[in-house]
Amino acid sequence: MDSAAVLRWYDRYARDLAWRTGPAERARGDAPDPYRVWLSEVMLQQTTVATVGRYFARFTSLWPTVFDLAAAPLDAVLVEWAGLGYYARARNLHACAVAVVEHHDGVFPKTSNALQALPGIGAYTSAAIAAICHDEPIAVLDGNLDRVLARYYRLDVPVREAKETLRAALQTVIPARAGDFAQAMMDIGATICTPRKALCTSCPLRSGCLARTTENPTLFPIKAQK
Ligand code: ADE
Repeated sequence: MDSAAVLRWYDRYARDLAWRTGPAERARGDAPDPYRVWLSEVMLQQTTVATVGRYFARFTSLWPTVFDLAAAPLDAVLVEWAGLGYYARARNLHACAVAVVEHHDGVFPKTSNALQALPGIGAYTSAAIAAICHDEPIAVLDGNLDRVLARYYRLDVPVREAKETLRAALQTVIPARAGDFAQAMMDIGATICTPRKALCTSCPLRSGCLARTTENPTLFPIKAQK
C-alpha cells in the first residue's frame, strides 16, 4: 500500500475537526491533546462526526481539561451526554477521567497497552489515542477501515471472518506518521470509500486497490450469509 500517497492526500484534504491539530500546528510539531482525542474517540464510537462536533464543543467548554471533567459531578456529565445514548459510556468516561487524575497525575498513559487498563478504553480507543497522540505504530481498525481494507485487498470472505488478517495487513503498512495515517484512512472511509459509493479516481489508494479493478468496488466487503 502506498502509505506515502495516503499522507500526501491527508496533508491536502484532512477534514478540519475540532480535536485535530491543523496543518500549521502539525508543521510546528505540536502534538494533539490526549484529553481531547480521548473524548472525541469515545463520542465517535456511536455517533457521526457531524453530531459529535456539538457535544465535543460543549464538553470542552465546560470541562477544558481532564481535571475539570474528573471534578465534575457525574450527574452533570450524564445531563450533557443526553442524546448521545449508551449512558454506560458516559459513566465510564467520568470514571476514566477520575482514574487518570488519581492514578496518573492527570496525564493519559502513552502506550496503547497502558491505556487499555482505563475504564471504557478498549482495543480501538487505545490504539486510536496512542497512534494519534504519540505515533505508536499500531493498527487502528474501525468499521470504516474494515470496508476500505476489504476493498483494497478484495477480501473474498466477510469481514468478521478476516479481522485478524486485515489487522495484520494494516500493521505492515503503517508509516512513521502513524497518527496522521490512521486519521487519513478514517477520512478516506468517510469521504471517498463510503458504503454506497467509491470515488476511486480521487482516492490515494487507487493504484494498489484490487476492488477497483472489479466492475463494482462497493460489492466489497462481501456480506455474511444470514
Ligand atoms: N472516527 C473516529 N475517530 C475519528 C477521527 N479521529 N477522525 C475522523 N473520524 C473518526
